[in-house]
Amino acid sequence: MRLQLDIRCSKHSIPRALVSSGNLSYKIRLASQRVSTRLQPFLRWAGGKRRLVNRLLSHLPEDYLRRRYIEPFIGAGSVYFALQPETAVISDANGHLMSCYEHVRAAPEHVYACLMEHVERNSDHHYYSTRQAYNNDGPSAERAARFIYLNNTCFNGIFRVNTRGQFNVPYGWKASPVFPTLEQLKLASSVMRKAEIKTATFEDSVAIAEPNDFFYLDPPYPPLNGTAYFTHYTADRFGEQDQRRLAESVKEVDRRSAMFLMTNADTPLIRELYSDYSITGISVTRFITCKAHKHRVDEVVITNYPTNARVTT
Ligand SMILES: C[S@@+](CC[C@H](N)C(=O)[O-])C[C@H]1O[C@@H](n2cnc3c(N)ncnc32)[C@H](O)[C@@H]1O
Repeated sequence: MRLQLDIRCSKHSIPRALVSSGNLSYKIRLASQRVSTRLQPFLRWAGGKRRLVNRLLSHLPEDYLRRRYIEPFIGAGSVYFALQPETAVISDANGHLMSCYEHVRAAPEHVYACLMEHVERNSDHHYYSTRQAYNNDGPSAERAARFIYLNNTCFNGIFRVNTRGQFNVPYGWKASPVFPTLEQLKLASSVMRKAEIKTATFEDSVAIAEPNDFFYLDPPYPPLNGTAYFTHYTADRFGEQDQRRLAESVKEVDRRSAMFLMTNADTPLIRELYSDYSITGISVTRFITCKAHKHRVDEVVITNYPTNARVTT
């Protein structure tokens, strides 16, 4: 068993001790830091940062807990649920996703009870009838449970809709799909009670920037040369022009004296767009769906403040 003790303390990074052993990782915050139970996202999401959270923590500004937390590309919220900020605005352009969050926040027990009915009946037949019901429904706690069930049993956790806006991902045939526990939904609900939840494009979310804000931005990545590592929305809906518009919005965040941290793909375009800021390269292991194996890819952490975080690959 390998035991690693890594203690870091600098002006711009968070002082803490991080002890890791195999797959276990304990985060111990020192006296000035709030101790919180680590909360995993309850959805699967393309480009989710679940496995990157520990490494991103060391890039956060020292005073992030005193700032309003704003995450305009929330997805499954890996970083948000790990940090559990006291004041937050979480948003995404995906209205299905944000509606699910609103209902989990309002009634986690009811959503869980509905979810368990699907879990007990899980099969390809049940999946397709639930998908049809989901597409014919208006927003409700029952529909949020359907969303969570479909998300955890569909092919690769992909979210994709047809031209009529109907969810059309096929059944995933997962041997043992993992579903959220009641405790997980209740904790997620209590965290989100301290947040404003919005369906919004990044432009609208960035427009509220004030000096005391901290933004975490995790946009869909541009495709990397030589790999098919991107999902439908990066290919169809978040191209180079979107990345350029995002860079302009992020500059406005900086002009308003708010702090930001962005994760993005390490490409010449991204490095050019953010050349005025601090850029740290990180190497990340990702599961490449079409090749069905793991692959190392290069990503960047971009901040408008200095970070002394040690880069681990
Ligand atoms: C890489 S994912 C975020 C993953 C998230 N950090 C996590 O850990 O799960 C990018 C998100 O951006 C959203 N998105 C795409 N275009 C957008 C836009 N124009 N404005 C806001 N959100 C957008 C997608 O719906 C998706 O949820």
